[in-house]
Amino acid sequence: MKLKLIFLIQFIYLKHVLPEKSKIAIIGSGIGGSSCAYFLKQNIGNAVNIDLYEGNKIGGRLATVEHFDTSYEIGGCVIHEANKYMNYFRNKFKLKKRVDDSDENLGIYDKNGFQFLSSNFKIITYAKILWRYGFSIYRLRSFIEDMLHKFDKIYDLQEKGKSFATVEELFAEADQSFLPYFNVTSKDGFSKFAKVNERTINDLVKGSLRVNYGQANNVHLFVGSVSVAGMFGDLWAVDGGNKKIPELLVQHSQVNFFKNYVYKIEFDKKHKKYVVQSLDNQTNQKLTITYDIVVLANPINSDSKTPIKFANFTKPILVQGKYQRTTATLISGHLNGSYYGLSKNNVPHTIIHNDETDIINSIGKIRPVTKVKKYDDDIWKIFSQQPLTADKLDRLFEKYEIINVKDWLAYPKYEKLGLSNEFILHDKLYYINAIEWAASAMEMSVIGAKNVALLIQKKLSSNEAESYKVKEDYKKVEL
Ligand SMILES: Cc1cc2nc3c(=O)[nH]c(=O)nc-3n(C[C@H](O)[C@H](O)[C@H](O)COP(=O)(O)OP(=O)(O)OC[C@H]3O[C@@H](n4cnc5c(N)ncnc54)[C@H](O)[C@@H]3O)c2cc1C
Ligand SMILES: *[C@@H]1O[C@H](CO)[C@@H](O)[C@H](O)[C@H]1NC(C)=O
Ligand SMILES: *[C@@H]1O[C@H](CO)[C@@H](O)[C@H](O)[C@H]1NC(C)=O
Ligand SMILES: *[C@@H]1O[C@H](CO)[C@@H](O)[C@H](O)[C@H]1NC(C)=O
Ligand SMILES: *[C@@H]1O[C@H](CO)[C@@H](O)[C@H](O)[C@H]1NC(C)=O
Repeated sequence: MKLKLIFLIQFIYLKHVLPEKSKIAIIGSGIGGSSCAYFLKQNIGNAVNIDLYEGNKIGGRLATVEHFDTSYEIGGCVIHEANKYMNYFRNKFKLKKRVDDSDENLGIYDKNGFQFLSSNFKIITYAKILWRYGFSIYRLRSFIEDMLHKFDKIYDLQEKGKSFATVEELFAEADQSFLPYFNVTSKDGFSKFAKVNERTINDLVKGSLRVNYGQANNVHLFVGSVSVAGMFGDLWAVDGGNKKIPELLVQHSQVNFFKNYVYKIEFDKKHKKYVVQSLDNQTNQKLTITYDIVVLANPINSDSKTPIKFANFTKPILVQGKYQRTTATLISGHLNGSYYGLSKNNVPHTIIHNDETDIINSIGKIRPVTKVKKYDDDIWKIFSQQPLTADKLDRLFEKYEIINVKDWLAYPKYEKLGLSNEFILHDKLYYINAIEWAASAMEMSVIGAKNVALLIQKKLSSNEAESYKVKEDYKKVEL
């Protein structure tokens, strides 16, 4: 009898000294979900058991399509030199940088023809830029440099283990002066904060937003700045394809992988747990598993093609905003110079269509994900607001073949100013993609993922502290 009691006390004692591993579900294996799994494994690997759900392909919006014996990026394509996490992962996994070193010619085109056309000769291009934009080009550059400098503070905060409940708090802590950027349009903001002239804003700011976000000058200044940052500084991509990074992150995180779509998350009030229901689209098999913690690493926008139903929550889980549609069309062929009023040899490598009424956002010549000696050098990527008709393509190209068409819900539609999205949707339900409403980019998803991993770490250590308290209570009983 006495022996049994001691045994029972010992059992309770051990259970609280060594808490059971927390069961975590991560939904989505893009760069956000995969890096979150990796950070959790690295920092609290022995305290968690991770299930990773992916309904489609690892990498999500980082994807490549094959053409002959090479492949091309069809989603997220370039990484800025200031993106520390992406570079850290690339180094960690011993992947090479791929830098496009070809001389790129740029044209900014609208209903009045080309507003800007760069030249093969750099010196002429510089002169043209100065002539057209004046000192505004320097002001724009120094505004971006200043912004990148302030942005670096986020890495310091995360290095120190600081985590934030909302996107706004994260930026406020990095630098208070970021906050007004979310409350002003790029059109007004670049003029007010960077003292950049209207022509520069209309050509370069708007043009970069057309290419990078399929949107115009009415988006907030922060996402506008992230977009413009791509014009300055070096850009690179991962040799072999950007999706290699999420693939390697998953491999190095020792997760249980489920190739399932999650369609419902139910809160179990009694046990304070989350019941995740999912479906394997191929076999039609359903799966229901209960978790302590759930991380959403996929956008939960109201127009999502893979929506998740939230049930039994006392406060409804808000699904905010819509995503911008961008169709990426990959073409092998010869661009028809006369469509643009140019002779064949003068067609720029990248043409930005700068009219909001134009369904084409941009057309650019692209390179394969791996440097190859010989490749078809007339591969073009068109970003458009919707799929292009055969008629449109017939006029744009002289002779062509469609390699691939990918219709993305690509990034948030930044219609409203302000920043209200939260990383914590419920007690232990986290949302990485809240950060996309500041700006959508690979690096941003990793920063969001790191923040969520730190929030979970904090939550678990406070839980542990609680269970130690319980342990003390049992000790008293024992005595
Ligand atoms: C055309 C295009 C060009 C871009 N260019 C750039 C660029 O040059 N540079 C840059 O930095 N960024 C770029 N971006 C943005 C960048 O790709 C994204 O910000 C980033 O890849 C988002 O990663 P994520 O992991 O947060 O989301 P995602 O990559 O969308 O990952 C979410 C994953 O969740 C899965 N999923 C969704 N719903 C469910 C469900 N219910 N159950 C299970 N799984 C689910 C999806 O299949 C997906 O794999 C571009 C995006 C697009 C579309
Ligand atoms: C941004 O605008 C919102 C709504 O108008 C307001 O509540 C908030 O205080 C503003 N923030 C800043 C930093 O100006
Ligand atoms: C959700 O609520 C329904 C109806 O009240 C109940 O039957 C169900 O058991 C609840 N689900 C969970 C996981 O608690
Ligand atoms: C997979 O199943 C989910 C849930 O039923 C559905 O919403 C989605 O459209 C399906 N996806 C594909 C690619 O078939
Ligand atoms: C090229 O564009 C011009 C001008 O729009 C058009 O007249 C011509 O038919 C096009 N050429 C081809 C081969 O489609």
